[in-house]
Amino acid sequence: LLMSIISRNSPLPRYYQLKEIMREKIRGEEWKPGDLIPSERELSEQYGISRMTARQAITELVNEGLFYREQGRGTFVSRHRITQHLTQLTGFTQDMQARGQRASAHVLSARMWPADEKIAERLHIKSGDNVFRLHRLRIADGDPLALETSFIHFMGCERLLEEDLNAHSLYHLLDVKYGQPPLEADQELEAGLVGADEARLLKISVGSPVLYTRRTTYTERKQPIEYAASMYCGHKYTFYTHLQREH
Ligand code: GLP
Repeated sequence: LLMSIISRNSPLPRYYQLKEIMREKIRGEEWKPGDLIPSERELSEQYGISRMTARQAITELVNEGLFYREQGRGTFVSRHRITQHLTQLTGFTQDMQARGQRASAHVLSARMWPADEKIAERLHIKSGDNVFRLHRLRIADGDPLALETSFIHFMGCERLLEEDLNAHSLYHLLDVKYGQPPLEADQELEAGLVGADEARLLKISVGSPVLYTRRTTYTERKQPIEYAASMYCGHKYTFYTHLQREH
């Protein structure tokens, strides 16, 4: 029945026609966010095209962010993206709460760590000074969104070793318990492709697009307290900033 949908006489390439058909299924909500899409084999049988053609159509929609792949599970329709404002200093928990989602973390490691030169420079300390190093997988409503490594330095930062950072917001603790409110930050953004270890943790396929942020966070009198390197799943985020023309 559906075979006739891809036209052999059309000047449009077949992979392109299949892309349009799949786009229409998303628009028409026949395929909803989070749905598993048919496999290459199923699509090729259904539309009478080669698996290569089906693969090309899927890959392009993955690259466009409409689909995402999960290692060993298949290809899914992307969920609505998280819009991350780039002009306000917020923490992950705060961002997710504002969206009505439950934030959590899976602490991969938390320990004291001698700062290397780069980190020391960012935190205005000497290299070799001990900082609290926290490596976390960040999760919202059970969905892994980002990997973050924070290096924290202030007098008595080793007390953070005793905190349960699976359940608590770092920024909240810094503010209310340690008197080190995060007040401003410098942040850089960069694009990249995810490696094998991170892909496994984020449940995405190796080589998926990711966004890196590097942030230096300051408390009062521009005293650095955190240097953080984060990796966000590319298909789950939109970074937003309001621009104003200079006069
Ligand atoms: C963001 C920042 C990190 C920061 C984190 C704090 O994700 N990129 O630099 O450490 O928020 O989040 P939370 O307060 O949830 O621990």
